[in-house]
Amino acid sequence: MDNFAFIIHPISFKADVVRKYPAFKVIPDRILRFMATLWPPVYISHITGIRSTATGKEIEGWFYACPLSPDQMLAMPVESVYRRIEATVNKAAAHGARIVGLGAYTSVVGDAGVTIASRVPVPVTTGDSYTVATALQATRYSAERLGIDVPGATAAVVGAYGAIGRASTLILARNVARVVLIGRDQARLAQVADLARAEGRAEVVTSTDIADMAQADMVLSVTSAVDTIIRAEHIKPGAVVCDVSRPRDVGAEVAEQRDDVLVIDGGMVAVPGDVDFHFNFGFPPRTAYACMAETMALAMAGRYESYTLGRDLTVSQVDEIRELAEYHGFRLGGVRSFEREVTDEHYARTLRGQAARGQVPAR
Ligand SMILES: NC(=O)c1ccc[n+]([C@@H]2O[C@H](COP(=O)([O-])OP(=O)(O)OC[C@H]3O[C@@H](n4cnc5c(N)ncnc54)[C@H](OP(=O)(O)O)[C@@H]3O)[C@@H](O)[C@H]2O)c1
Repeated sequence: MDNFAFIIHPISFKADVVRKYPAFKVIPDRILRFMATLWPPVYISHITGIRSTATGKEIEGWFYACPLSPDQMLAMPVESVYRRIEATVNKAAAHGARIVGLGAYTSVVGDAGVTIASRVPVPVTTGDSYTVATALQATRYSAERLGIDVPGATAAVVGAYGAIGRASTLILARNVARVVLIGRDQARLAQVADLARAEGRAEVVTSTDIADMAQADMVLSVTSAVDTIIRAEHIKPGAVVCDVSRPRDVGAEVAEQRDDVLVIDGGMVAVPGDVDFHFNFGFPPRTAYACMAETMALAMAGRYESYTLGRDLTVSQVDEIRELAEYHGFRLGGVRSFEREVTDEHYARTLRGQAARGQVPAR
């Protein structure tokens, strides 16, 4: 059977490690974190029941965990982190995995998968191409639900020269009126801005000040910042903010302080077939992160190749994986906000919040 593996890691030690090993509840966080630096890769579960709606082909997969948290991956020497990720990929390959997806921070470390791919016996993919496609789909969908005129809107990308940020910027520049690129390095912002001007129709401006995201009706936040960087006062009245970053860029307090804005987590992908992950990663049944779905779609198509690596994602790569995934039956399966599904009531409440503040919903 065609197959894949996907690498995950703990985001919050206490919550994620204790979910797998309840007995570890009594161990202090600092000791758990130290244990993680020595712990071998962990087999998590068998993923069954994924079936293409186009061809009827069924595939299977496995979750493996690299037991390091994002802050540990940033603090440790990059070579040590590569070795830990390689060990996890090798374990999955020894199990029979024919392609391995690098989840969350394992795809961010160092050169975003390039070195790992050169050292392991199977192809790897970061999943970032399909993450871009679904984050933009979810943002557009939510913006339209809130009455934002997308072609006339201003969008901001926070982390605009990162792997996800750059490709998202190039696609947004085709679809909105104005794009504000935000990052820490003006020269790198200017390079992406030049590409975006060539690619699209939008006016493109750059800023190193996060406060400039307050110009935007739609925000895509895709940084590797370890702490939250977006607070309530940074968000334009009535805006949609798609926070793809893990750990999050947007502080949890924003949901309480701003009932006129909608912060979403990116898209959930509905997986074709009767998939069972045999592991609860916090999503509703039969839905997955887009980076997982990219790995699944490649296995479904028998495309055992390192599809997305490094930080220079192209628009055509994003379009191609979206079309491939849609062909096999993967769909935007909903939108989430702070780990909860966004319902019709969620959109209605945001519109009521805007009205109560005297905002005009449609721009
Ligand atoms: N939800 C999902 O399904 C999913 C899937 C894949 C990735 N992700 C997450 O998406 C995020 C981006 O991934 P990526 O692969 O695009 O990472 P990346 O290529 O490393 O890009 C991250 C960018 O963030 C910038 N940055 C870091 N701290 C910043 C700050 N305080 N203010 C502004 N910019 C800052 C970095 O710029 P500097 O060089 O200046 O530091 C870098 O350009 C990560 O958090 C990752 O975990 C989520």
